[in-house]
Amino acid sequence: MNATHSARLRGQTALITGASAGIGKACALTLAAQGIDLVLTGRNAEALEAVAAQCQSGGTKVLTLAGDLTDTGFVQRLSEEASHVQVLVNNAGVLTYAPVLEITTEQCAQMFATNVVAAFDLTRAIAAHMVKRGSGHLVFITSGAARNVAQHGVVYAATKHALSAFAKGFRLELKSHRIKVSEIAPGMVDTDIRQSSTHPDVVKSLAARKFAPLRAQEVADALLYALLQDSNSATELIELRPAFG
Ligand SMILES: NC(=O)c1ccc[n+]([C@@H]2O[C@H](COP(=O)([O-])OP(=O)(O)OC[C@H]3O[C@@H](n4cnc5c(N)ncnc54)[C@H](OP(=O)(O)O)[C@@H]3O)[C@@H](O)[C@H]2O)c1
Repeated sequence: MNATHSARLRGQTALITGASAGIGKACALTLAAQGIDLVLTGRNAEALEAVAAQCQSGGTKVLTLAGDLTDTGFVQRLSEEASHVQVLVNNAGVLTYAPVLEITTEQCAQMFATNVVAAFDLTRAIAAHMVKRGSGHLVFITSGAARNVAQHGVVYAATKHALSAFAKGFRLELKSHRIKVSEIAPGMVDTDIRQSSTHPDVVKSLAARKFAPLRAQEVADALLYALLQDSNSATELIELRPAFG
């Protein structure tokens, strides 16, 4: 990356959801290092403040808003506080692996509410402000599960297929307003997201994995690549896979 690239991002502000942990945290630290100001959100206020403090130590301006994205009142408040952002990174997500006949309705509902409905509501609200300004960049962190369905991951895959459709649909409807849309679809990443998957068959199959997952930093690097493109060039999809998975 050269000085022109960095200068392209300086002075911009990005809203990152799910910034308290994992991929979102890596994205926050990576964008802060590029001089991008941040609005960070997640439910865990303490973890969020710790990430913000790390970002601020390099001089980045950070606004934190802790809350639950499945609460429509919070999404409304967040979209008002973050109405000025040039970049939205839809990263927050949950994952529970379980066999289709055993996964509970509550687990399905939580994945759809977080991964699909909340992302749609927030994107619509933020995109409305971008449309008024005639510029902006929407990023969706989907998954390899946006195109494939793995055993025990059927509901999660359904949510990520939906999120990928949103990426395509927002691009279609908003390109005339000069809004870019990027989808980043990583394979397995080394975060805590699988901790809620306690079904014995799932635990066994995860333990049998023989390849090294991606690091959250590698997803953050892909995000940076997408954001650094020239104004007339759009990175529409980055699929990242563990090399030997
Ligand atoms: N890890 C992987 O293998 C992998 C692979 C491909 C794609 N992805 C996707 O990457 C994204 C980030 O995953 P990760 O692996 O970094 O997971 P993670 O470490 O578990 O982090 C998930 C983040 O989402 C936030 N979040 C979850 N539910 C929320 C809610 N209802 N309201 C607000 N924030 C919420 C969490 O914050 P709080 O706990 O503070 O609320 C946390 O910051 C997800 O969309 C995931 O599907 C992950």
